[in-house]
Amino acid sequence: MSKTYQIALLPGDGIGHDVMDAARMVLGKIDLHAEFHFGDIGWEFWKKEGDPLPQRTIELLKKTDCCLFGAITSKPKEEAVKELTPELRDKGCVYFSPIVRLRQEFHLRTNLRPCKAYPENPLNYRDDIDLVVFRENTEGLYSGVEFHPLPAEIKNLFLQLHPKMGKFRSIDPEDIALSCRIFTRQACQNIIRDSFEYAKKHSYPTVTVVEKPNVIRETSGMMVREARKIAKEYPGIDLWEANVDAMCMWLLKNPQDYSVLVSSNMFGDIISDLCAQLVGGLGFACSGNIGDNYAVFEPTHGSAPKYAGQYKVNPTAMILSVKLMLDWLGETEKASVLEKAVARVIQKGQIRTYDMGGTNTSLEMAEAVAECIG
Ligand code: NAI
Ligand code: MG
Repeated sequence: MSKTYQIALLPGDGIGHDVMDAARMVLGKIDLHAEFHFGDIGWEFWKKEGDPLPQRTIELLKKTDCCLFGAITSKPKEEAVKELTPELRDKGCVYFSPIVRLRQEFHLRTNLRPCKAYPENPLNYRDDIDLVVFRENTEGLYSGVEFHPLPAEIKNLFLQLHPKMGKFRSIDPEDIALSCRIFTRQACQNIIRDSFEYAKKHSYPTVTVVEKPNVIRETSGMMVREARKIAKEYPGIDLWEANVDAMCMWLLKNPQDYSVLVSSNMFGDIISDLCAQLVGGLGFACSGNIGDNYAVFEPTHGSAPKYAGQYKVNPTAMILSVKLMLDWLGETEKASVLEKAVARVIQKGQIRTYDMGGTNTSLEMAEAVAECIG
């Protein structure tokens, strides 16, 4: 008797529900020994409770092995406060992205985004693309250490410590904003190692570290230096180095030349969107947020409010996220069966959602995948 997995399901907002329903159809056919637990997350809970990620949801996740997440709606600060229920409006609630919080609470340090061109997908940029982006998920420019106005202590300290600060000396603190790009050696090593391990396990020939060390010498520099060290432990895999701006050109010119890409939080965010679009866009872009003890799998798209509840969007991104979850759980055979089923439905081309030029619903697509599972 195999293990019974405990899996949290967080549909969230908008089309998060549509694609979660699609995922459940597929999961129903996979015959995974699992118990599923629905949890609350998203805009509705922000409005009613002043917290889009209630503590009870965190507690629920702590009792599970991993989580499948749909999508959430988020809005700018001022707008968010206006939508709070009147009793909460003067309580000082501050909206903070629940997915970013999940990544931090559960130390989901690695963001994994495979981008594969499945044969006969009419949205493929080319048919021979197989890219996997590893993005550092908890620090870098998204650490959240930001200042505006610039506190006098910081300004004075920077003036003392760094000659290049001189040009900002006479600027009013109100007119300076500062966002810190913080890299730790440990996080650089972790993301680089994860990318090499993945390349090794899945027989990819290269890992390309995508940074900008010629300009951002200390942070990008640290990432590249750690990459060079770790690469020595993987003799069969070549380390390539690319600047993020040039990489954007090369990804359009020769995407088939690359395999595993690894980068810091913001650059990884940007290049993974570019890679996703090369193989069909948001309807196909799956992801895993992976830590040492927990993982959250999600399509990278948002809640697409205009399609909410219409079962119109492409559930493939979500279904491929289920595939990543199965892989992470060690259910590699089931993962492979699921991926083949997705590939088969795409290749046959009989069932297509609107983004692929068809008229089928999310659930028809999921049903077709479920049927191919056998
Ligand atoms: P979005 O990803 O929700 O949708 C943008 C457009 O992409 C849609 O209008 C639709 O045309 C297309 N699209 C998205 N998913 C698709 C799918 N599965 N199949 C086919 N087409 C698809 O981005 P948008 O409109 O910028 O943001 C809407 C809300 O989602 C915002 O509140 C935003 O903050 C939030 N968001 C949440 C994310 C998350 O939950 N991880 C990620 C990105 C945005
Ligand atoms: Mg993004």
